Amino acid sequence: MTVKTVLVTGGAGYIGTHTMVELLTSGYDVVCLDNFSNSSPEAVKRVEKIAGKRVTSVTGDVRDREVMSRVFKRPIDGVIHFAALKAVGESVAKPTDYYGNNVGGSLALLEAMNERKVRRIVFSSSATVYGVPETLPLSEDAPVRPINPYGHTKAMVEQILRDWCAADLTCTAIVLRYFNPIGAHPSGTIGEDPHDVPNNLFPFIAQVAIGKRDKLTIWGGDWETPDGTGVRDYLHVVDLARGHVDALRYGFENTGYRNINLGTGQGTSVLQMVAAFERAASKKISFAIGPRRAGDVAACWADGSSAQQLLGWRAAMSVEQACVDGWRWQQQNPDGYRGQRTAG
Ligand code: NAD
Ligand code: WQD
Repeated sequence: MTVKTVLVTGGAGYIGTHTMVELLTSGYDVVCLDNFSNSSPEAVKRVEKIAGKRVTSVTGDVRDREVMSRVFKRPIDGVIHFAALKAVGESVAKPTDYYGNNVGGSLALLEAMNERKVRRIVFSSSATVYGVPETLPLSEDAPVRPINPYGHTKAMVEQILRDWCAADLTCTAIVLRYFNPIGAHPSGTIGEDPHDVPNNLFPFIAQVAIGKRDKLTIWGGDWETPDGTGVRDYLHVVDLARGHVDALRYGFENTGYRNINLGTGQGTSVLQMVAAFERAASKKISFAIGPRRAGDVAACWADGSSAQQLLGWRAAMSVEQACVDGWRWQQQNPDGYRGQRTAG
């Protein structure tokens, strides 16, 4: 069987690095395109070390036509498109940056794919497209009603991909709507590396545990949930990465457009997450209950049955395991990829 080559845009980022490891160890060749606006070349080196295989790394922007025509000179069998900006609050403050990068970048990528007749794409969408859930668990046919510019960029790219597939019945777009990815690779050498104060719960807790932050503020203790704190569907990033390999395989065997949730189907509250991290790190996490955060919802978790039926995928790793692995990454890399410690 000939080896397939996958272009991974945004491959140096949090989810991209873990996915490149799983692709390489599943026998794919990988071309990584990243402008390193939110990542580091060191991350790609560490992926190569874990997998024991080389990645073809191209530094550049998906919106740069010259870079894209260079990337697509080599035969590419399929694309996984991670490259995007992802901070909800920043998207409210800088909407044009978000529409430009996330929607404009996706269009530029599809144009380059059209030119080279590359017809398979797996796209990083988000549970954020559902907005405020009406019923739980969230299945893929729940209404798409984003409540911030970031969410709108994902919904727009979904629509573009739907139309792209409708125009050419040989095209395939697998749109993965991720719930809340957490944790790190069990090697402790790749993980999430936020450059500013983390907005997300998991990296914030990890930074409290390592002593970089004094305490966690819990955004609301009076939600309509069993313990009053927000409930989310947290999935281990390695499970999520494996879901991409399954989606890609499905994309090579099928045509057309598909939305697929990737989540565990289980809800975990903020207080439960704090307790799980305390057990993993054998440390107390200081916290205080603060006001509700604008735009938050009480609870959100996935109906994961499509992923199971179509891809044969289900989350295999627990929140506890994600805390153990995330804590290992935090301890071994207290300053992320900027620290001088290297893999292994
Ligand atoms: P990340 O910021 O770690 O990775 C994104 C990567 O894309 C970075 O390496 C960045 O440098 C690169 N990039 C951004 N714009 C680019 C451009 N124009 N050209 C080339 N490279 C570019 O983010 P992540 O958490 O790994 O997220 C990956 C994808 O998954 C994103 O599309 C994000 O919206 C989506 N997603 C993330 C989450 C989450 O909680 N992390 C949840 C749902 C969906
Ligand atoms: C989880 C829970 C907070 C921080 C976001 C994006 C979403 C997706 C994933 C990309 C909530 C609480 C958090 C803190 C807290 N990203 N919390 N104190 O909001 O579910 O989803 O990331 O697509 O689009 O919106 O994740 O980790 O920010 O919050 O109490 O300092 O933790 O209120 O209940 P969220 P999160």
